[in-house]
Amino acid sequence: MTSPLRAAVIGAGAISLEHLPFLQQSERANLVGICDLSPVSARIAARRFDAEAGYTDLAHMLRQALPQVVHVLTPPHTHGPLVRLCLEAGAHVVCEKPMAATADEAQELLTVAATNKVHLVENHNYRFNDEVVALKALIEQGRIGDVCEVDIRMALQIRGEGSRFADLSNIHPIHAMPAGVLHDFVTHFAYLLNELSGGADWQRVSAAWSNHGGGELFKFDDLDATLIGPNGAGQVHGRIRFSCRTSPDVFSVTVRGTEGQASTDIFHPFLEVLGPRPGGEQLTPIVNHIVNGTRLAGAGFRNFGQKLLQHGPYHGLSRFLDSTYEALQADQPPPVTPQHIMAAASLVDRLLDQEARL
Ligand SMILES: NC(=O)c1ccc[n+]([C@@H]2O[C@H](COP(=O)([O-])OP(=O)(O)OC[C@H]3O[C@@H](n4cnc5c(N)ncnc54)[C@H](O)[C@@H]3O)[C@@H](O)[C@H]2O)c1
Repeated sequence: MTSPLRAAVIGAGAISLEHLPFLQQSERANLVGICDLSPVSARIAARRFDAEAGYTDLAHMLRQALPQVVHVLTPPHTHGPLVRLCLEAGAHVVCEKPMAATADEAQELLTVAATNKVHLVENHNYRFNDEVVALKALIEQGRIGDVCEVDIRMALQIRGEGSRFADLSNIHPIHAMPAGVLHDFVTHFAYLLNELSGGADWQRVSAAWSNHGGGELFKFDDLDATLIGPNGAGQVHGRIRFSCRTSPDVFSVTVRGTEGQASTDIFHPFLEVLGPRPGGEQLTPIVNHIVNGTRLAGAGFRNFGQKLLQHGPYHGLSRFLDSTYEALQADQPPPVTPQHIMAAASLVDRLLDQEARL
């Protein structure tokens, strides 16, 4: 068994509660430090997740704890200098998305990683969720034919009462990013579109960014984007839709192909596949209803089972971390490569480009 890697975390906020249980339990990692600007947060997290020590200064943690891997889990506008410091100290970095505000900044950090001969990985966790893995497998098996459309839709009450993005007494730093609050989500949309379209070369991009709710705080609260480009087998249409006005909260992903279509919802996991009937026969309307109803009931049971197993939307994150640590231990490239990171960051840039604005 390869020896565990010395791991540390900077940023003991909400998302750390998804990283730290992995680091506490994994045989691939020894949690040597947790750093946060708040000494109380650092101390409590260190005690709760059995870290060797808590810190309030990253440079101090890097010198004293000598981590081989650092997870950067602070708000996006802080990532650049923190990631750079870790890479220059010779540590691999797992950085939360969005790693950088622009593709140029992402490229600069990847260059620092390459210069220091360490890996820099952005968290693309939803690629590792069961349903997305299953969608990818269906595509690769040719079950839905050539991919023609990928449709991603998120509805989330970011302006609702209780949303931390809408709190005027404590302005969330994400508002300073180029896409404002939507920058918290677009990286997910971009890597999912790239992955499920079979790496389409998005030659035509148009994006309507709106602030339907108005006011100064939100740059945008709505996105409606269309992308078109070839993927080798033909032209693919991509669609991104974000709304904070529709209910309930959803994160649906649908892939349509020449032979069928498959859909899932990452917030309410299920997988529905509509394809040619076995044997290729058209069924009578009544038999069609029975077959479709049985299929939906099955999806409902599976969804309920997932809820019982507490298989929440973040279940892909520990799988992403495990495969990243496995690769680092074996001195192999991690599963999220610089190419994945740059393809997603460039797509976000394209969506924000004034020329693409509707
Ligand atoms: N992958 C996902 O699905 C997912 C989900 C939620 C959040 N995120 C990302 O995770 C990152 C953090 O989000 P969050 O919701 O956990 O934020 P948060 O505000 O809950 O926590 C951030 C923590 O970082 C600390 N911090 C800030 N600057 C620091 C610094 N310079 N040094 C040390 N500590 C510092 C803060 O004190 C705070 O405890 C963001 O990039 C966000 O987009 C990713």
